[in-house]
Amino acid sequence: MSCAHGYAPAEGGEGIFAVDASSLTFGRGALREAGAVVRGLGCKRVALFTDARVRQIDAYAYLTRSLAEAGVDVVTYADVRVEPTDASFEAAATFARDGRFDGYVSLGGGSVIDTCKAAALYAAYPADFFAYVNAPVGRAEAVPGPLPPHVACPTTAGTGSELTGIAVCDVVSLGAKTGIASRRLRPTHAIIDPDATRTLPPAVVAAGGFDVLCHAIESYTARPFTARARPDSPAARPMSQGRNPWSDHGSFAALELGATHLVRAVRDASDDEAREQLMWAATLAGLAFGNAGVHIPHAMAYAVAGLVRDFRMPDYPDDEAMVPHGVSVVVNAPAAVRFTASASPERHLACARALGADTRGAAPDDAGALLAAALERMMRDASVPVGLAALGYVDADVEALTRGTVAQARLLGNAPRPVGDVDVAALFRASLAPTTTARGE
Ligand SMILES: [Fe+2]
Repeated sequence: MSCAHGYAPAEGGEGIFAVDASSLTFGRGALREAGAVVRGLGCKRVALFTDARVRQIDAYAYLTRSLAEAGVDVVTYADVRVEPTDASFEAAATFARDGRFDGYVSLGGGSVIDTCKAAALYAAYPADFFAYVNAPVGRAEAVPGPLPPHVACPTTAGTGSELTGIAVCDVVSLGAKTGIASRRLRPTHAIIDPDATRTLPPAVVAAGGFDVLCHAIESYTARPFTARARPDSPAARPMSQGRNPWSDHGSFAALELGATHLVRAVRDASDDEAREQLMWAATLAGLAFGNAGVHIPHAMAYAVAGLVRDFRMPDYPDDEAMVPHGVSVVVNAPAAVRFTASASPERHLACARALGADTRGAAPDDAGALLAAALERMMRDASVPVGLAALGYVDADVEALTRGTVAQARLLGNAPRPVGDVDVAALFRASLAPTTTARGE
């Protein structure tokens, strides 16, 4: 078989990749087209998921006006939790079930969009909470059928949730983050309006921006799709199928855009160009990792976020301790890329170069350190904590953090090299302290 794209399937290995994507509308002012999009999907009565902060911003007014002008009946649910839990998912599902809606609209960050996905799922196909949750925490049962239309409208440049079939939540009784993953959960249409990010405070832009960079790096360095065994049927092909020729384009373009615009977008809320380009980077990365998958930094992040003690990030609600998703991911990324670099040094060097590192004369063995240093430099430039110690973790936490990470089998299986308990523990120890000094040495 020819492999013009550079991927050669192993004997008995996968030789086919698939691209699933939401329809999308992108551009400043795009929210004004929401009514037409929702009506075009045949919806007359929708549940609108949002949160208390987003309800106050212009984007909410534009969206609801557009829906009203199109004659769509809207009932708003604004009780979404930042970093949702199993209980908050279930409360949202009860609202969705009782409302008898024919469609869903979500306006907010990843927490809002994920909550809407879960609410639509449990309203359409009631089940006990763990039925659809990823194994080993849940039973990972297949979603029985299609869901009503969902139009997702992000107000942050980050999670890419508007384009993926993943909904993440914190299972409080287990102190662990996990989620639901199914193509059925992927929103029908994403309306991505960069103007919705104008009022975001710097730390929220920074956390979202590093989530984007990590989606890009992880999907660009994931295990190749050709390394999986060929599935028995197309339906058995996983959504996180590994890096592939299509995801490579989106991942790398997102990385280059993020490198140029992330710090600018954090430092200057009036820099419309930077915020728009960061939103486009989030879109490209979302399309890419939605079909390729992420791996070690995200697997570790679930444990970091789930085991938070008393860390609070500026610009986030301070009523309870919380590590924003993007921060919980990127804090592990320097150690993770040092570990994964040997699987594809040329790809790690390309990422480092995209982030501004001088890779002239670099040997393959330098790839991980160069990429780690480039990431840490950007984190400092964007005032994001570097190292787990800065988030309040200590050496004694490594065991629990490792346990929480090993539970993310779906993500760890997408890493470019095998990663066991001992490796994860070593990565957490390495993540406790920064690997480079503030001067990047
Ligand atoms: Fe993420």
